[in-house]
Amino acid sequence: MDRRIIHSKLLGLCVVLIGFSCCQDPEMPNAKDIDLTDIVYDPSSYEPEIPFGFPKLEIPEDNPLTLEGIDLGRHLFYDPVLSADSTMSCSSCHLPELHFQDHQITSQGIDGVNGHRNAMSLINVGFNYNGLFWDGRVQTLEEQALLPVEDEVELHHTWPQVIEKLKLNPLYQEKFRQAFGIENTSEITKELAAKAIASFERIIITGHKSKFIRVSQGLDFFSNQEDKGKDLFEDTSNIEADSLDAECSHCHVAPLFTTNFYENNGLDSVGDNLQLFVDKGYGGFLNDPAQNGKFRVPNLYNVAFTAPYMHDGRMEDLTTVLDHYNSGGENSINKNANIRPLELSDEKIESLMAFLNTLIDTSYLDNPMLQNPF
Ligand code: HEC
Ligand code: HEC
Repeated sequence: MDRRIIHSKLLGLCVVLIGFSCCQDPEMPNAKDIDLTDIVYDPSSYEPEIPFGFPKLEIPEDNPLTLEGIDLGRHLFYDPVLSADSTMSCSSCHLPELHFQDHQITSQGIDGVNGHRNAMSLINVGFNYNGLFWDGRVQTLEEQALLPVEDEVELHHTWPQVIEKLKLNPLYQEKFRQAFGIENTSEITKELAAKAIASFERIIITGHKSKFIRVSQGLDFFSNQEDKGKDLFEDTSNIEADSLDAECSHCHVAPLFTTNFYENNGLDSVGDNLQLFVDKGYGGFLNDPAQNGKFRVPNLYNVAFTAPYMHDGRMEDLTTVLDHYNSGGENSINKNANIRPLELSDEKIESLMAFLNTLIDTSYLDNPMLQNPF
């Protein structure tokens, strides 16, 4: 054949291929359904160890905890397949070595755009029964897990595309079968993916080996300084008769160190105009201006390592946080009455800091069930 003809034929083929590939995403051929019934389905139920004194870990009836479900969730949590350009996963903003947050003031998604809130640590997230996110706008971990994938500043992907990729991946074919007993790849859905991720998140539990819990169990003792810090924190005022207490445990109640309620802890000065809050928080979600500027009380395990602090990451260290509480914070009409000038001496601030450090437990990070499988 004449060279020119070959060239023109090749050119023609290229045009056809280019035309074809622009209409059909090359990464997404239509998945042929695959029968999975040869893979054994025999899930083992799992009961995580709960720190002494913690409330019961509530598990939804339609999503029992199984080793297989948790393991599928662990893979999905760490897998960049969930993001549009395969660069980010849940764990990019919730890093295990950083106690499942990211040390950023506000987090950055795949397009380099920053959100307006600080990534929350997922420590003990399974015990947050009164709404998730800083503003409580989502109720369950199953519902929450669906959101980051399609969030424009987070993973910026679409679930149908993610599901097509999962259906084609033999690892996930096996894991979805083992976790949920599906018989065919066509049964892989975003709802099952979300259930698995939620199961994984429920076992991110810590506190067992913290000094605080060990002392509650009678296995350890506080130093004098920690003991003073505890008295200040817990409002028991049995230190010197004239000392004020620090009021912390009105909101950060042991053993979870949160009420899970939404409060205004005096971060912004808006006086009596509650519309002025830049981030309306709980009030924005409820569409109730009286609740503007309120955010969920965070738990305090490993708080020594989870800077920066507050919903917008505005405080860079714990000294800044304690100075804030000591000053009584900024004024607004719905500020909680327990946020008031405390007049704590430096020595008392140090005792409070020592007490906060008794909430450190990093041993959970050694749990292989929480680690990156890739
Ligand atoms: C780009 C960073 C980023 C990515 C990626 C990301 N998150 Fe988050 N996550 C955040 C931020 C920021 C918040 C707080 C948002 C708010 O309150 O509005 C948050 C909050 C949460 C919460 C609420 C915790 C609580 O105590 O209420 C959960 C649960 C969570 N993320 C799980 C996930 C899961 C699961 C994925 C993957 C499917 C994921 N996140 C991906 C940044 C990220
Ligand atoms: C009125 C309830 C209330 C009281 C009292 C209170 N807090 Fe808080 N605390 C909150 C809320 C709400 C937040 C989150 C606020 C936000 O991000 O907008 C918070 C945040 C924090 C944080 C930052 C945690 C993080 O992950 O960002 C620390 C640390 C903290 N509080 C410690 C204390 C200590 C120590 C005391 C006592 C001196 C105390 N709190 C008293 C409600 C309270």
